[in-house]
This record gives sequence, structure tokens and C-alpha cells, in this order.
Amino acid sequence: MFNLANFSLKLGNKEYPPLMVGGMGTNISTSRLVLAIEKLGGIAHLSDAMLPAVVDREFGTQFTKGKTFRFKQTIDQADKSEVKFDLNELREASKLYYKSVMERATGKGLVLVNCMEKLTMNDPIGTLKTRLNAALDAGIDGITMSAGLHLSSLKLLQENPRFNDALIGLVVSSSRALKLFLKRTSSIGRKLDYIIVEGPLAGGHLGFGEDWRSFSLSDIVKDVINVVKDEKLKTPVLGAGGIFNGNEAINFMKETGAQGVQVATRFTISQESGLPDAVKEQYIEAKEEEVVVNHASPTGYLMRMLKQSPGIQDNIRPNCESYGYMLSHGDCPYLKEFNESEKEKTKCCLCTHMRNYKIWTCGTTVSRLKEVTKKDGSGVWILPSAEEIFNDYCYGTSKK
Ligand SMILES: Cc1cc2nc3c(=O)[nH]c(=O)nc-3n(C[C@H](O)[C@H](O)[C@H](O)COP(=O)(O)O)c2cc1C
Repeated sequence: MFNLANFSLKLGNKEYPPLMVGGMGTNISTSRLVLAIEKLGGIAHLSDAMLPAVVDREFGTQFTKGKTFRFKQTIDQADKSEVKFDLNELREASKLYYKSVMERATGKGLVLVNCMEKLTMNDPIGTLKTRLNAALDAGIDGITMSAGLHLSSLKLLQENPRFNDALIGLVVSSSRALKLFLKRTSSIGRKLDYIIVEGPLAGGHLGFGEDWRSFSLSDIVKDVINVVKDEKLKTPVLGAGGIFNGNEAINFMKETGAQGVQVATRFTISQESGLPDAVKEQYIEAKEEEVVVNHASPTGYLMRMLKQSPGIQDNIRPNCESYGYMLSHGDCPYLKEFNESEKEKTKCCLCTHMRNYKIWTCGTTVSRLKEVTKKDGSGVWILPSAEEIFNDYCYGTSKK
């Protein structure tokens, strides 16, 4: 039977099913989820968002507590410019996490890490350099650079002994962003191994403005493929955002010439996803009209989420000392709003709420999850395993 597994994606000198599971922060794409896919010969992303806090939960370390204690004098101050990660600790936390994952990987598939480049802490270059290099040092198969597109990232990795053999990919939402990246990095001479085009229907942050509805993933992918050809490159291009099953993936690849797809929303409700089960039920029961794109994230990017996410209305004290990744010079828009007014806040403390699973980000297809999920005899949703979802994408032939 004809299905997605009939196609393949060549990365390095190996071939894989043309399906990547996207990174889902904070710790929604858990190591359990990623390893379940890797074991099947698939490709999946960890997310490095708020990794020290994730490591504390999983390994009982105290990186977050230590940082809170170190900066406790700034908790009541508006200016947080002193608050920085201890780069040695950041390196230690990252290595501990990635090593433990890579020790459990089978080598059949790929474990990649999605590095959200915009997440910095009063030291963008130092923080990013530490995070990227620690991932390679710990043996991760590859890094996907996303959100914020730091044009110096390749340079930050240049000295790493694995710079040429680990996979390095990029997420873009326009051919213009890709051109800029290629232009600025051409002198480094390191080609990208893959390019993921994230369209307007994806989960998480969006690389579009208020006019996101006027863009189509297919059109952007075609434009990006043209840039790749013009540059005489052979980099595979994948599309992401709104692709719900294997049939849709095949049709999309045929229409655009993409060599694969990246998906995420269907895996949010997998048994291995980090979301609490009660939140997974909210995802399954979500209605189309409950999915909103708003300005709640202080990053400046639009974000897609369920409008009933409890974090949206929760005006908590910013938790910069513990987990915070501030965006520039000691503040972020939420911190400013929090300090300057008592009126209703339009932004939320994303760090805290993402860590506590109170912002329910999702792609547009979240409202279709109920179509592919069953209930048991007592009316409780039966959560699928990551393997079942992966196999449905790869081997499923039904249009539903
Ligand atoms: C719950 C969730 C969390 C996400 N978190 C991140 C993230 O931390 N970084 C990122 O670059 N993309 C993130 N994304 C985007 C996905 O990696 C992926 O590219 C996209 O959602 C694929 O589209 P789909 O969800 O319609 O399948 C997230 C998506 C979801 C659904």
C-alpha cells in the first residue's frame, strides 16, 4: 500500500522516514517521547527551552533554586540586568540532560534539539554559545536553530570538533529570512543539512505578523525551494504546520516538492508527552473556535494557544530569578507591564506558565484530535502512544 513510508529523507548518509517530530517546549517533547520515535528509526526533537528547570525536575538537581538564591536581592527590583545564567551551570545542566538521552538512544533514528535562539539572559551570545556547544559535546545528533534566527549561531559552533559531522538545520518562515541567513553565513562555508519552513498554522510562536492568514505554507515552501536551487544547494526542505496525517503529508510533498514534513500537534496528547493528562484532555476536546493567535507571549512574536489556557489571565509575579529568559537588557514586556501598571495585563510570564503547563500552545489541527482518538467504555479518552501516532503518519492510508 502506498504511504508516507514509501518516501525517504536523506540526512548525512542515511535515509529516514520523511517525518520529523518538532520540538515542543517546555518539556512537552520529553526525552521519553523523543526516544520512542528514535527507536522506530524516526527523527524527533528535544526542546532546550528552560532546560535547567527541566533537569531539576528530572534529576533532582538544584540549578533553579541556586539561581533564585543567588539573585534574591533583585526579586523586588524592576531592573533585572544583573540576573544571568552561570554559564558553567548552564553547560553542566545541558550536558547532564543530553548525555542521559543519548545514552538511551539506539542509533536507529535521530535525536535533534530545537534551540530557541531568542531565549537569552542578559548575555545573548554567551548563553547561546554555551547551549549550542553543550548539546554537541554531549553527543546530540543535530541542532535545529529556531525562533529569533541568530545570524551568528553557526559562528558560535565553528570551533566545536563536531561542527562538520553533526547535523545543523534551520527553521524559517520566509524565503527572505533564509536568504539573509545564507548571505550572512556564506563565509563560514558550512552548509545547512536541512531547512524547515514553519507556516502560519503551526503551534508555538509564529514567524508572522497579524496578517498570518494571508500566507500559505505551500507557497513559502516553493519560494524556499527556489532559493535553495538558485544557490545551487541540495539542502532538503521540509514543511511544518497543519499537516495532520500521512495522506496530507504526501499531497503536500507532491504539490510543493518538499522532501518531508515536521509535525507536532498530534504528539501533544501522546502518552509520552510532558503535558499532564488533564491538559491532554483539554487538547482533545478543543473546538476550532477556541484556538487563538494572540500577543500573550512577551517575546514579541504571536503565539497560537487555546483561549482557555489558565496562564493568560494569571497575573503572577515575574519569576526571572528562577527560570527567566529575558529578551533584552534586564527586562521583558511582561516585566515592564507588571511593574508599571496594576491594570489587566495583556502579556503573561511565559517562562513560569510554560514550565507549569498553563499556556496550552497548539497548532490549528488541535480541534481534529478528537477525530483520531477513542474513548474507553467509561467515556475516558484513550491516549495514543507516540509509536501509534508515528505509525499512523508513516503507514496510515486512510484520509481520516
Ligand atoms: C505544544 C507545542 C509546543 C511547541 N514548542 C515549540 C518550541 O519550543 N520551539 C519551536 O521552535 N517550535 C515549537 N513548536 C512548533 C513545532 O515544533 C512544529 O514545527 C509545528 O507545531 C508543526 O505543526 P503542527 O503542530 O501543526 O503539526 C511547538 C508546537 C506545539 C504544538
